[in-house]
Amino acid sequence: MFDLRGKTALVTGGARTLGLDAACVLAAAGCHVAITSRSEESARESAARLSAEYGVDSLGLGLDQVRHAAVVNAFRRVLDWKPAVDILINNAGGGSGTSPALLFERDVEDIDELLRVNLNGVLYCCREVGRHMAERGSGKIVNIASIAGMCGRDRRMYTQGGLKGQPVDYAAAKAGVIGLTMDLAGYLSPRGVCVNAISPGGFERGQPEEFIRLYSERTPLGRMGRDGIDLKGAILFLSSPASDYVTGQNLAVDGGFTIWH
Ligand SMILES: NC(=O)c1ccc[n+]([C@@H]2O[C@H](COP(=O)([O-])OP(=O)(O)OC[C@H]3O[C@@H](n4cnc5c(N)ncnc54)[C@H](OP(=O)(O)O)[C@@H]3O)[C@@H](O)[C@H]2O)c1
Repeated sequence: MFDLRGKTALVTGGARTLGLDAACVLAAAGCHVAITSRSEESARESAARLSAEYGVDSLGLGLDQVRHAAVVNAFRRVLDWKPAVDILINNAGGGSGTSPALLFERDVEDIDELLRVNLNGVLYCCREVGRHMAERGSGKIVNIASIAGMCGRDRRMYTQGGLKGQPVDYAAAKAGVIGLTMDLAGYLSPRGVCVNAISPGGFERGQPEEFIRLYSERTPLGRMGRDGIDLKGAILFLSSPASDYVTGQNLAVDGGFTIWH
């Protein structure tokens, strides 16, 4: 059920952090992987490491997904490399730009850019790769959303924990990703393509100690997510035949954060 030998995946933002975790777990299941970064050099370096470690074919590509033409071009390069793409992990995103996170203090340019990366870019990838999958009659699309798209945040935790937090435009984009996942799943189900989302909670990555403490206390499982570990199971499940009867869902990988209201 979890065997991906002979399959090919495209992982956007797959050169580092959670995207690289996704690429690693797919490669470990035998899947060939194409990964992207805004830096082609960085994508190539990570791709070479994936091939060396897991013995699969890999391709590193430059992609800034705010431009639709760049998405089309990157996907064309993937199809020059392999005849078909079976799995799309729509992971690239995040960030809040350089201006403050609070809406009234935030630069409009940062708001627009965040929406372009986290919502438009995800849609462009769904459009180009989804069309290819629909023509073939099979495929798995996994969109990485966020619990920020599921519930409002307690900003006191960020202030007390010494962080600027993430802006409401991030929540808007991620809620959009969850919405488009459900609707696209309906559109692509008759064409044999499953579309699901994963909403990670906060992952521990050098935040101030006080923030980690507050966040962990607020989380039923008592800790933040771990890079290199906690996202992988959900990625493998939603990319493999194990989830063939699952579509249009949003799986929270958040230690239970969203169950407490
Ligand atoms: N970390 C968390 O706690 C958390 C929680 C909930 C959801 N998420 C979501 O999970 C995903 C991965 O998060 P992360 O923490 O691994 O993020 P990260 O460390 O900030 O990395 C962001 C990734 O997105 C790529 N990216 C950013 N802008 C891009 C653009 N314009 N075009 C193409 N690629 C772009 C980056 O690629 P390069 O820098 O290599 O170009 C990088 O791979 C994101 O969608 C994020 O919103 C993360």
